Amino acid sequence: MKTSGDLSFAAENAHNKVYGGFEGVEIPKDLDRKIAERRSQNHTKRLHHHAFRCRNAEETRHFYEDILGFPLVQAVIQNRDFGSLNENNFCHIFFELADGSALAFFDCTGSLVTRDYEPGTGFDHHVALYVASDDDLDYYKKRLDAANIPNHYVDYIVYHSLYVNDPNGLNIEFCANPPITADYELKAEIVAHRDLKTWMDFAHNQRNSS
Ligand SMILES: [Fe+2]
Repeated sequence: MKTSGDLSFAAENAHNKVYGGFEGVEIPKDLDRKIAERRSQNHTKRLHHHAFRCRNAEETRHFYEDILGFPLVQAVIQNRDFGSLNENNFCHIFFELADGSALAFFDCTGSLVTRDYEPGTGFDHHVALYVASDDDLDYYKKRLDAANIPNHYVDYIVYHSLYVNDPNGLNIEFCANPPITADYELKAEIVAHRDLKTWMDFAHNQRNSS
């Protein structure tokens, strides 16, 4: 797999003509400290769980636990919708990640089962999971390849990603940050509000001219 690239090219790639780029952007010396302080003050500490529906709890368990190695840590069986209190038998299963958060799924026999599971594109709903290195991407790629599960790798220069669809059509992205990412993310946050404004003006003009 490729490793780090050139930040100016990465910035050009991610922040093309529409977005403005990193030209003239300097990283203040105390930005790391300010970010750490900001994060420590955020009342939301981490993802607790991300939930999705599944077609079959055991099929889903096989994918997450046997192939990816995410331990099954809860299987909650109930017989009523939380909101409506209508009868709806379901099993809510949780697969643990390293920080204690989880990917969770509902297997229902009631009204919630009426959904099509169609793998989407990269613009559709997907869950991106951070891994520490390219070696970890290789680890997952080998396990998926051994199970003959289609997957694909994309080098975004500032992020390295491995994509796979689970048995329910949910797109999972494993994402590693090469060394270049840290500098990229610091500069990206400096220009984020500027670029959002640029985008809103651009999109407004596009929508009004079509
Ligand atoms: Fe993503």
